[in-house]
Amino acid sequence: MELIKQKEYKEMMLKYEFAKKKLETDLEILLQEYAFKVGYNPVEHIKSRIKSLDRIIEKLNRKEKEINVDNITRYVSDVVGMRIVCSFIKDVYTIADIIRSTGEFILKSEKNYIDEPKSSGYRSYHMIVLVPIHLENRTEYIQVEIQIRTVAMDCWASLDHKLRYRFPGKLSKDLENEIVESANDMLEIDKKMQHISDVLNKVKE
Ligand code: GTP
Ligand code: MG
Repeated sequence: MELIKQKEYKEMMLKYEFAKKKLETDLEILLQEYAFKVGYNPVEHIKSRIKSLDRIIEKLNRKEKEINVDNITRYVSDVVGMRIVCSFIKDVYTIADIIRSTGEFILKSEKNYIDEPKSSGYRSYHMIVLVPIHLENRTEYIQVEIQIRTVAMDCWASLDHKLRYRFPGKLSKDLENEIVESANDMLEIDKKMQHISDVLNKVKE
């Protein structure tokens, strides 16, 4: 593949690496400070990744775009992806607030797939954020995608992904419906757990 030999491509991927590191470090500090202040850590785990070239090309092909550096920046919003998995539904919003209110990142867009789940049943809170990377004599803003979700939503999304990946053809309507139902079951679990957490918090007060 010619693209990976290009200096332009290498430079772009290097910047994505920097943005990933910067995002990880900044968030670790913000979340640790929050946990210290409040005495409660909302995070179960955090994972970030750089999208492989194969998957980048696949996405550009799907969007019927030519494969070049410009189009990667323009059409692939999740070259850097971070997933923050938290305990309860309210934690999702707490974390989104923390990200929104730090002066460090520029919020480009948000999608609340919790209030408005996708037709697949997918629930999650998505943010596209610009992360500043401080280079030798300038600052550049690099786009990253952050997905925030509860453990239950994450459990569903992982299994959903696995099921669809193993059976790439179109699923029957019945199976589609069963997948949506299981997503809704997960939401019920989330609501119950949130309720228990709220009650316990009141008792503690
Ligand atoms: P893409 O161009 O495919 O990224 O779509 P988009 O730009 O509209 O982004 P969207 O907000 O739909 O979210 C994309 C990401 O969310 C995907 O890369 C997945 O990680 C996740 N996602 C979205 N829908 C589903 C789904 O139905 N199941 C699972 N498991 N994950 C999903
Ligand atoms: Mg994506």
